[in-house]
Amino acid sequence: MRVRPAMRLDSAAHVQEVAGLAVAPEAQGRGVGRRLLDAARSVAVERGARRLTLRVLSTNVRARALYAAAGYQVEGVLKEHFLLDGRYVDDVLMALDLT
Ligand SMILES: CC(C)(COP(=O)(O)OP(=O)(O)OC[C@H]1O[C@@H](n2cnc3c(N)ncnc32)[C@H](O)[C@@H]1OP(=O)(O)O)[C@@H](O)C(=O)NCCC(=O)NCCS
Repeated sequence: MRVRPAMRLDSAAHVQEVAGLAVAPEAQGRGVGRRLLDAARSVAVERGARRLTLRVLSTNVRARALYAAAGYQVEGVLKEHFLLDGRYVDDVLMALDLT
């Protein structure tokens, strides 16, 4: 997992992004993902961010449940953004307000 600027623009310097969150299959379901998200939030706050964003596939029920439980809200949907196994899947933008 990485926490990085959502954009390389001074005008968006207050927005950090969580990217590449993943827990090894054998360690899933034990709270590791939740703790990683907590750590991401702490890093973003330390950097002075006002917002923490991420993108998740609409079909990723597990990840979406984790993000919703952590307070992230859906702010946008990129319709049919990916073609996966012959099926178009939406990409969902979620964000956490840090103010
Ligand atoms: C999504 C992922 C990071 C979650 O990590 P994890 O360590 O398994 O999650 P946790 O054990 O911390 O669970 C936290 C929350 O996730 C949700 N969750 C976990 N397992 C779930 C399941 N089997 N079904 C539905 N929701 C689930 C719940 O909201 C859970 O909260 P709860 O424990 O209060 O019920 C992990 O499943 C993963 O690496 N998946 C593959 C990669 C991926 O999809 N990454 C996200 C890309 S956007």
